[in-house]
Amino acid sequence: MMRETELSPADLIYPLFVMEGEDRKEPILSMPGQFRWSIDLLVKEAAEAHLLGIPAVILFGIPDRKDERGTPAYDPDGVVQRAVRTIKDRVPDLLVITDVCIDEYTTHGHCGIVKDGRIHNDETLDCLRLMARTHAQAGANMVAPSDMMDGRVAAIRDELDQAGFSDIPIMAYAAKYASSLYAPFREAVASSPAFGDRRSYQMDPANAREALREIELDIEEGADIVMVKPALPYLDIIARSRSQVSIPIAAYQVSGEYSMIKAAAQLGWLDEPKVMMETLLSIKRAGADVVLTYFAKEAAKLLINSYP
Ligand code: PBG
Repeated sequence: MMRETELSPADLIYPLFVMEGEDRKEPILSMPGQFRWSIDLLVKEAAEAHLLGIPAVILFGIPDRKDERGTPAYDPDGVVQRAVRTIKDRVPDLLVITDVCIDEYTTHGHCGIVKDGRIHNDETLDCLRLMARTHAQAGANMVAPSDMMDGRVAAIRDELDQAGFSDIPIMAYAAKYASSLYAPFREAVASSPAFGDRRSYQMDPANAREALREIELDIEEGADIVMVKPALPYLDIIARSRSQVSIPIAAYQVSGEYSMIKAAAQLGWLDEPKVMMETLLSIKRAGADVVLTYFAKEAAKLLINSYP
């Protein structure tokens, strides 16, 4: 009766990896229980999530072909664009969010256009515009830029408005830290930077005020939801943002957070369901409205069973 925070399947967003081919389900070794799906199997997984009461999925693409400029990212018939169309056709009530960032599509693995060993912010914006537009044209309900280039929310908003998608919201990865907890994700999509690191565009884990500034900027540029990422080591950032902004806040429990719990559970050192629920509840208690988590289905199953 006195519980202040409730967790429900409706608070969860399920990240999914999609690849080319048919009838393919490839395990991601550093993320036990997570897979790269071909579109036909992805649709089934998405439908299952929907049945469990999870309102949304977010899609990450694994293209067959990568190039220097990440052009497969904005192919109207690219793997994510086709996946969106198929899910919207078969499971129309499930919200489909797309990750907008070229790192999965570039040979160098960076989130921006590279010239002379440097990331070119403004040139990258053109790619992000096209990527967001082709996702919206395919039927995406929301786009989520995760690249951390400056000015990308304004650019994407402008592009979507001009293309007749003024009703498609933007969930901005606003406070995205240069975290070592993304390693399993980078194994999943083969996007580890070929040189250097992402510290010129992702945030220094030491900075909290900067996160608030990034969030303010993204809201000014037109973000509808702002995200803090990773989640558990940055609960203070979630809480501070919550006290300063009125729009919804999302938090991303990233691949490394998931893998740590899975690994400890496999060794018998932690009780997986309990730790999973405790971390998700903590993220909500800190102030997140929604949580992106690879545990979405497992958590939803437990929640459904505990509130018959
Ligand atoms: C970039 C992106 C990353 C993640 C989501 N979007 C990786 C990165 O910045 O290197 C990480 C998510 C996770 O670790 O679960 N497209």
